[in-house]
Amino acid sequence: MVDYAKKKMDDYRLRLAGRDIVPIMQGGMGVNISTKAMALAVAHAGGIGHVSDAMLPDLTDRLFNTGFTKAKARLCRAVDKMAGYAGFDFPLQEVRFAAKTYLEDVMAGKTGPGLVFVNVMEKLTMNDSVATLKARLLGALDAGIDGISLSAGLHTSSFAMMAQHPRFRDAMLGIVVSSSRALNLFLRRSAKTGRLPDYVVVEGPLAGGHLGFGIDSWREADLGAIVREVKNYLSEQRLDIPVLAAGGIFTGTDGVRLMEAGASGIQVATRFTVAKESGLPDAVKERYFEAEAGDVVVNGISPTGYPMRMLTASPAIGASLKPQCEAYGYMLAKGECSYLKEYEKAVAEGRATEGICGKTCLCTQMRNYKLWTVGATAARLKETSSRGADGHWIQPSTREIFDDYRYGVADEVRARRRAE
Ligand SMILES: Cc1cc2nc3c(=O)[nH]c(=O)nc-3n(C[C@H](O)[C@H](O)[C@H](O)COP(=O)(O)O)c2cc1C
Repeated sequence: MVDYAKKKMDDYRLRLAGRDIVPIMQGGMGVNISTKAMALAVAHAGGIGHVSDAMLPDLTDRLFNTGFTKAKARLCRAVDKMAGYAGFDFPLQEVRFAAKTYLEDVMAGKTGPGLVFVNVMEKLTMNDSVATLKARLLGALDAGIDGISLSAGLHTSSFAMMAQHPRFRDAMLGIVVSSSRALNLFLRRSAKTGRLPDYVVVEGPLAGGHLGFGIDSWREADLGAIVREVKNYLSEQRLDIPVLAAGGIFTGTDGVRLMEAGASGIQVATRFTVAKESGLPDAVKERYFEAEAGDVVVNGISPTGYPMRMLTASPAIGASLKPQCEAYGYMLAKGECSYLKEYEKAVAEGRATEGICGKTCLCTQMRNYKLWTVGATAARLKETSSRGADGHWIQPSTREIFDDYRYGVADEVRARRRAE
């Protein structure tokens, strides 16, 4: 019998990269919600921090005054006149260089015993999915990143894309899946590279961001059951790959329960959205703190085609925004983006100012922090802090949240006690 009043995440270790790591991974949150400062704080404390590679050319411009976005916009407009968005090829060297520039800076700041990984959402395909994904992955390896987590829309040839890179076997490579079927497909396709993933993150139905389930089928899914299914599959295949559980883990004790069910670690994100180091603007963090259960919805407005969980008050929902594909956008496949289509149709029918309901301009809205994605536990964020004398919520530090997961017992949320 496990004594949940005593057992804590710090009692376990995850063996990865030849080290014993505190088995707590802070999940990637694009665009720049999981900042460099956040990932570094987690690594410093002995866990695994993630930055995200979503829109790195734009982020690099904002941080280092580079000109990737301007150059891309100029080029794209010129091509658009002749061939439309479908004819636009992303400048691959620039995509790779932007990833390298940003991630090298992140890695230069790394201290402590943990690791820093980058989350790569594969569905952000930039017109030519294979070539641009390859550029992003190679840029991350060039930068000396400790590891890459491949997520959302897993490309089964991603390992092959990196196979010639000198760091292909040094860097930790992991995949995020929501079923053993997706894992099986990936392993079969990447077998020819002679390399297995170093870890698998099983993301359940309560996670933030995009979901690997149908718009309704997430309701019937259960994280513990999927972790067991994936563990069984791996043991049938005689594969010893650590499995980390993600989605809806709010306390260290929630994590312990999953460790006892066979997980080797946990990936957590929603609690870090309101951290001091989170890239969300303060006003948005206030909305996150104030969220109630009824304010959280799973809908189909993301043009990636995956359901996404968000706050119903997100300004992006129903907004009519002129697409910014030239500068920021990813133009998912050969110029096809379901928001772009909806927008152009609305303009042609003279109703664009009334709002675009079915889809959202994901790139620009995420970049501008107008799409407030959260996990299903968002309504509990208020338990993790309190309001200061000025009426604003006190933002816990990344370290406080990490330590709460690490040392918390009996489902306690310790950050609140400290704030009080
Ligand atoms: C604000 C936010 C942004 C996210 N962005 C991404 C992302 O860019 N890529 C990704 O693979 N997962 C993303 N996720 C999912 C997390 O990395 C993580 O797996 C999941 O949210 C864990 O569940 P939890 O939030 O209930 O702890 C995001 C989650 C949140 C809350």
